[in-house]
Amino acid sequence: MKHLLSIDDLSTDEIGQLFETAADMHDVQKREVKKLPALRGRTVVNMFFEDSTRTRSSFEIAGKWLSADVINVSAKGSSTSKGESLRDTVLTVCAMGVDGLVIRHPASGAALQVSQWVDASVVNAGDGMHEHPTQALLDAYTLQRHLGSLEGRHVAIIGDLTHSRVFRSNVQCLTKLGARVTVVAPPTLMPSGIASWSAAAGFETSYDVDAVLPEADAVMMLRVQRERMSGAFFPSPREYTVGYGLTRNRLALLKPDVPICHPGPMNRGLEIAADAADATQSVVLEQVSSGLAIRMAVLYHLLAGEEA
Ligand code: NCD
Repeated sequence: MKHLLSIDDLSTDEIGQLFETAADMHDVQKREVKKLPALRGRTVVNMFFEDSTRTRSSFEIAGKWLSADVINVSAKGSSTSKGESLRDTVLTVCAMGVDGLVIRHPASGAALQVSQWVDASVVNAGDGMHEHPTQALLDAYTLQRHLGSLEGRHVAIIGDLTHSRVFRSNVQCLTKLGARVTVVAPPTLMPSGIASWSAAAGFETSYDVDAVLPEADAVMMLRVQRERMSGAFFPSPREYTVGYGLTRNRLALLKPDVPICHPGPMNRGLEIAADAADATQSVVLEQVSSGLAIRMAVLYHLLAGEEA
């Protein structure tokens, strides 16, 4: 595996191997000295052209715990803010001898484009509304730890599907692992063309949260991505919550102990109530620590060659 641009790049076996490595990496997190020599002498650059808390810091820590040299480049503070093109910025950074390039960019397809310009291994840390493969891996890994195999388990993905790269990667990852997936959104936030896509890919769609929740073995709430919305997709935040939020009343519809995921950052009180975000079955913080283990596993598989 040279790059990780899409879940489509991974076979079910490769996902299983990444999860095995992630389990080993998870053990490293519990140690007092959290350092493995695997990527000594390797250089990883995190290039983030969009805001991020979890993804950027976990890629940075992941690289550091594997002993790689890690540097961060962000749009603000780099020459892109002076008008330099993405290609020139990427080629400049790579001319310094970079082995791994972790990129987040607002344009769908940016990571694929970058992988065609450079020799380094490229990891897509979110490209516009397209994909966010490490998020899907960490979500599935977290759910497997709770549910055992995902084969036949029913995962409900609820929220702003139109603008969500997390949903696009997750639907592929979860169905590859044998889960039954139902995606739920208001009609205005249901991606166009989803009927043919869901039929081909084997997942279900619904507009009715209250009908789906009682049947779910896991629930994944998605953020309302106001920064990607150019118009009004729902009449008011209150109406969104009433129709599609995971409210305290809706918690009661869930089977006991059903894990509740959210990739973060959460809009508390909009798509998820505090009662749900902080419920005992919420796995939101566990997703963050799994994210570190998954990103260590990904960097390890991409960059730890024989000479490492
Ligand atoms: C997601 C992202 O950036 O795509 N968050 C994340 O990576 N933790 C989802 C989101 O922003 O809603």
